[in-house]
Amino acid sequence: MSTRTTRTARTRTIRTLRTAAAAAVAVALLGGLTACGQEARGGSRYKGEEGKGGTVGLAMPTKSSERWIADGKNMAEQFQAAGYKTDLQFGDDKVENQVAQLENMIAKGHRLLVIAAIDGSALTDVLRRAKEAGIPVISYDRLILGSKNVDYYASFDNEQVGELQGQYIVDQLKLEDESSGGRKFNVELFAGSPDDNNTKYFFDGAMKTLQPYIGKGQLVVRSGQTKLNQATTLRWDGGTAQKRMDDLLSKNYGSAKVDAVLSPYDGISIGIISALKSAGYGTKSQPLPVVTGQDAELASIKSIINGEQTQTVFKDTRKLARQAVQMGDAVLNGKKPEVNNTKDYDNGQKVVPAYLLKPVSVDQSNTQLLVDEGYYTAGQLK
Ligand code: GAL
Repeated sequence: MSTRTTRTARTRTIRTLRTAAAAAVAVALLGGLTACGQEARGGSRYKGEEGKGGTVGLAMPTKSSERWIADGKNMAEQFQAAGYKTDLQFGDDKVENQVAQLENMIAKGHRLLVIAAIDGSALTDVLRRAKEAGIPVISYDRLILGSKNVDYYASFDNEQVGELQGQYIVDQLKLEDESSGGRKFNVELFAGSPDDNNTKYFFDGAMKTLQPYIGKGQLVVRSGQTKLNQATTLRWDGGTAQKRMDDLLSKNYGSAKVDAVLSPYDGISIGIISALKSAGYGTKSQPLPVVTGQDAELASIKSIINGEQTQTVFKDTRKLARQAVQMGDAVLNGKKPEVNNTKDYDNGQKVVPAYLLKPVSVDQSNTQLLVDEGYYTAGQLK
């Protein structure tokens, strides 16, 4: 081999090595950039690698209400974007299903449980097991009662929800208007499920605004059923509410008319309106009474637009999900989650630190808000 040939071969080898090194640097750089890009998108310390943060168990009560489906979906998406896997379960409104689902999540070694309880007092044993396994718990929307093993609570200001419903009735009937000539109005009262801690907050909030007028005789509850335990609706069931409204009308009204119905939740409002229509309400000569609600469910927003249900309370489930995900991510990374209430939510065993969001009253005058906020599309409301 000539000296020239040897030199050419060596030069080629060096060139090949240089190219390989440059390529390796490029791959390394690219890898780094990709990781940064994912981190920026996912906003998480886990660099967007799916499931690197472990699995989060999401236990929702039922699929029979749109809101819980949306809550579950929103949380699953947001936890996944933060680098966690998710295990989303719905309890079909049966306590034993929810307990079994939570036991299963604990057995699988999930890192965090986010729970919207079916029965707020039925989870003490299973949460003891979560504690033993070192799994933190976030109580979602509904406070879990009777257990020390609840780390945080994310919800809306539940008492304010009730106040918005009660005040809406006061405003619609113009009860504060001195010139109303002391006219008396008939009202009937509905409350939520007796095993849901939110029920009493909603009812108490509403009664805070209604009770003074009941006391003065300006509002009359013809059935006499003014106590929480007379007004509850097991599992928030619309059919159960419809039956009770049928009964209230047939036993207490005769030729008298009901002017307003306090309803704590859209599913219940729809049941109440069905009973009212069967009894002849909803015509020009016999218009429907004021009927409140909660959750801004699509069926109820359409009913409001059509002039049947009068009001609902909008609680943006996307915002609540975001709050719960931030809490969960902080807890799992040894940080303190943001809270704005550390005194009001005593579950019988501890005061649970909470973050409460603001609810918004919606009626025919502001349904557009839901489109502006991107909660529904304009097409969905047609
Ligand atoms: C409550 C919740 C309400 C409504 C109701 C029935 O706990 O706060 O927004 O969804 O359950 O599902």
